[in-house]
Amino acid sequence: MSGSKEERKGSGEWHEFFWNPRTRELFGRTATSWGLITLFYLIFYLFLAGMFALTMYIMLLTLDDYKPTWQDRLATPGMMIRPKGNQLEITFTVSDTESWDGFVQNLDLFLSPYNDSFQVQTNDDCPPDQYFIQEDSGEVRNNPKRSCQFNRTMLGDCSGVLDRFYGYNRGQPCILIKLNRVIGMLPGKDGESPYVTCGAKPYKVGEDEWREDSEKIGPLAYFPTNGSFNLMYYPYYGRRAQVNYTQPLVAVKFLNASLNTDIDVECKVISNTLIAGSERDKFAGRVSFKLRINDK
Ligand SMILES: *[C@@H]1O[C@H](CO)[C@@H](O)[C@H](O)[C@H]1NC(C)=O
Ligand SMILES: *[C@@H]1O[C@H](CO)[C@@H](O)[C@H](O)[C@H]1NC(C)=O
Ligand SMILES: *[C@@H]1O[C@H](CO)[C@@H](O)[C@H](O)[C@H]1NC(C)=O
Ligand SMILES: *[C@@H]1O[C@H](CO)[C@@H](O)[C@H](O)[C@H]1NC(C)=O
Ligand SMILES: *[C@@H]1O[C@H](CO)[C@@H](O)[C@H](O)[C@H]1NC(C)=O
Repeated sequence: MSGSKEERKGSGEWHEFFWNPRTRELFGRTATSWGLITLFYLIFYLFLAGMFALTMYIMLLTLDDYKPTWQDRLATPGMMIRPKGNQLEITFTVSDTESWDGFVQNLDLFLSPYNDSFQVQTNDDCPPDQYFIQEDSGEVRNNPKRSCQFNRTMLGDCSGVLDRFYGYNRGQPCILIKLNRVIGMLPGKDGESPYVTCGAKPYKVGEDEWREDSEKIGPLAYFPTNGSFNLMYYPYYGRRAQVNYTQPLVAVKFLNASLNTDIDVECKVISNTLIAGSERDKFAGRVSFKLRINDK
């Protein structure tokens, strides 16, 4: 039975590999050898950990609490609307209070820090149509930085002060538009503020053929006048540096939009320094949403 003999020999070798009593080797290494190898790895890993900690420390030293170290410079910011329904869709029925009550509450909540009394308490009455520059002078920090007032009443019929339902109860809804914050952005030159313009969203009907339903959207009113984001709200210095910053808004009121039909609206920012909606980023400087006003 040569087979079983070989087997026994094989298992003996295995035992010897595990623990060889003659050479006093465990897994083919003596105690000294194991000790050295453990010591080597210990030092090696300690060294790696030290390198990591040192690199981290140097990196944290170069970070500034008040300014981002890296930022996408060419970006035109995105825009967002309020109230924000699901899927950027504002659908309601004029006669059904419950269908628009959520929108009104959303706007109330969003606008409460814009109350004139609160703005007067926290922010400055800045000279309009010019940037509010508050640079640091060399190493001397100019923090915290002040911010400019954006009074709720500047939104006129869309402020919720004169008309507490923002027109939703009369089928003339207000939509607020904000431009996302970008630190250091200067959105207009030569004293010209960027402004918002809304219209029917063009849609494709064939090869290179576009159409828009401009008549469905009806006349619009913009607040503040001209739908502009005044230059005095720029540049933005960041959450840490400019603690009371109040983001400027533009309100659009749909004065006579068609009822019982979907209206695809697109709003975009027009500025002499920002480029809206390039091919690369079609959400830059523009926002689209669906509006549907039912009468019953
Ligand atoms: C802002 O004013 C509205 C009424 O105009 C009030 O209901 C709301 O509580 C005020 N919010 C703050 C934060 O003062
Ligand atoms: C921020 O607002 C508070 C009042 O709410 C005010 O005391 C503080 O001075 C303001 N800070 C800056 C930097 O504007
Ligand atoms: C905001 O309102 C206050 C008081 O109503 C007023 O003094 C101030 O000039 C207004 N600020 C702006 C920027 O219109
Ligand atoms: C609105 O725009 C017109 C023409 O573009 C300009 O003359 C006027 O001063 C602007 N109004 C405000 C409040 O910016
Ligand atoms: C509102 O639009 C309808 C057509 O959709 C038109 O018949 C009506 O005259 C308009 N009303 C006003 C006040 O412009």
